[in-house]
Amino acid sequence: MHTVIDEPLSVGTLTGADADIRNCDFLADAGNIPDASIDLIVADPPYGLGKDYGNDSDMLSGEAFLEWTYRWLDLAIPKLKPSGSLYIFCTWQYSPELFVFLKRHLLMINEIVWDRRVPSMGGTTRKFTSVHDNIGYFAVSKDYYFDLDPVRIPYDAETKKARSRKIFEGSKWLELGYNPKDVWSVSRLHRQHAERVDHPTQKPLQIVERMVLASCPPGGRVLDPFMGSGTTAVACARHGRQFTGHEINADYCAIAESRIAEARAARLRQEQPARPRSKALITTDTAVQAAE
Ligand SMILES: C[S@@+](CC[C@H](N)C(=O)[O-])C[C@H]1O[C@@H](n2cnc3c(N)ncnc32)[C@H](O)[C@@H]1O
Repeated sequence: MHTVIDEPLSVGTLTGADADIRNCDFLADAGNIPDASIDLIVADPPYGLGKDYGNDSDMLSGEAFLEWTYRWLDLAIPKLKPSGSLYIFCTWQYSPELFVFLKRHLLMINEIVWDRRVPSMGGTTRKFTSVHDNIGYFAVSKDYYFDLDPVRIPYDAETKKARSRKIFEGSKWLELGYNPKDVWSVSRLHRQHAERVDHPTQKPLQIVERMVLASCPPGGRVLDPFMGSGTTAVACARHGRQFTGHEINADYCAIAESRIAEARAARLRQEQPARPRSKALITTDTAVQAAE
């Protein structure tokens, strides 16, 4: 099944942004995506850890997992434009092999560590508890698109004040905010989290939004070959990027579609000019003022 949600998001810059949801296996469908048509790939594939996605896609391990990963990467990489880039979520168990493979095809820009802010509990006593995911960030060429400004983190008032001495005065960076750096400390989505939907490994929007805003130009197209609940699609809907995503579980596709619709409705509400106050109200207010 293949759904294209193509209602205009708003007048102006976002008109025509679409979300192309494909309920099928990315590896089977990749041939239908034109080469050099994608600005950014955000890939959050099965990690090979045995999670239940309503299918057996996370049951591969060892060499079989790596061989499958290399296969889909070989299909995905040619889809990128010369200015394009790719983020891949993975774990420390496989990141060494995956990064070596990717470095043979692309330019490595960063390894980002996602600190999931897992609370301290009992856990293992034979090694250090693992609380992070590895994210590889790669680009096709040195001319890759990257815009830091939309993802800068504002300085808090205290820091601004502390840095307001003469030597810092007029420092543009103090107003613009700072580079998020390569360790991203963002809580995983626990069951009660407001953002959480019915998907076992849903990623926080904050993380994916940072990737989309920094690495895909406005109006550009993002590909997510393992879409899950559609977090990347939501980031695109919120920020005027086009989206193509694959997911083999039809229930997750339905969740993604409803999340996109919600994000679009919220965006439209936000962009709607404030309603003029009704005549009746104005009259009443005026009457109250006159009486005062
Ligand atoms: C780690 S989850 C993605 C979670 C997603 N980032 C989110 O925030 O919801 C990986 C997803 O890939 C799907 N999947 C596995 N193999 C696939 C394939 N060959 N093609 C498309 N989707 C696949 C799984 O069903 C699962 O939902």
